[in-house]
Amino acid sequence: MRLMVAANWKMHFTKEEAIETAKQIRNGVDSSSSDVLICPPFVHLLPVKEVIEGSGIKLGAQNMYFEEKGAFTGEISPVMLTSVGCEYVILGHSERRHIFKEDNELIAKKVKSAVSHGLKPILCVGETLEERKLNRAFEVVEEQLKSALSDIDTKDITIAYEPVWAIGTGIAADIETVMQMHNFIRSLYKELPILYGGSVKPENAAELAAIENVNGFLVGSASLIPEKFKQIIDAFNKTKGV
Ligand code: PGA
Repeated sequence: MRLMVAANWKMHFTKEEAIETAKQIRNGVDSSSSDVLICPPFVHLLPVKEVIEGSGIKLGAQNMYFEEKGAFTGEISPVMLTSVGCEYVILGHSERRHIFKEDNELIAKKVKSAVSHGLKPILCVGETLEERKLNRAFEVVEEQLKSALSDIDTKDITIAYEPVWAIGTGIAADIETVMQMHNFIRSLYKELPILYGGSVKPENAAELAAIENVNGFLVGSASLIPEKFKQIIDAFNKTKGV
């Protein structure tokens, strides 16, 4: 199974800050065991790419539109992403779903378009606290997965389980919850890597990595601080024995 620790920088950093952070990550982290991925804001993709060139660290975008080109003011296409050397793209992140009202139908179009343009999607899924309380977590996640992955070649798909209630809160989901959901997703998709995301930090990285079907992390806040990101990668690799 492919293993990956990914940085989702969200809407952070000026160009100078992005370059400096990428340099510190390039110089500090081991990218020879698990894959290491940086997903900066669109405008920093090229400068970050220059910094990580030749290091083995991979480049991803945080979103894209499904059309190749046209009158879609403010959007970025898959062709544009591949033309600046992007290999991965995060799709269906909970902030896209909830703040920008992206639904399963739109996300499915994006995933399909990304795959057909040779990009590797990181498909984010996860239930809200309300859905969990209503005992609908598994049903919601299954629907998010099936709607996006039903009629495509899934070989380059990475899944990220990110319970909405654990993102940016500082409190990751408990081990039992993560284990149950990752086992459930594994029962549906035998071959695909499943990342966990939601308040991953150096303090909890080892215990989360110890869960069998956790094949990597999608890290937000802690990925903005190179030393913390490095500690997470080291704890993950050590626990996985790679
Ligand atoms: P967080 O974000 O690590 O800050 O909780 C994770 C994510 O949204 O991908």
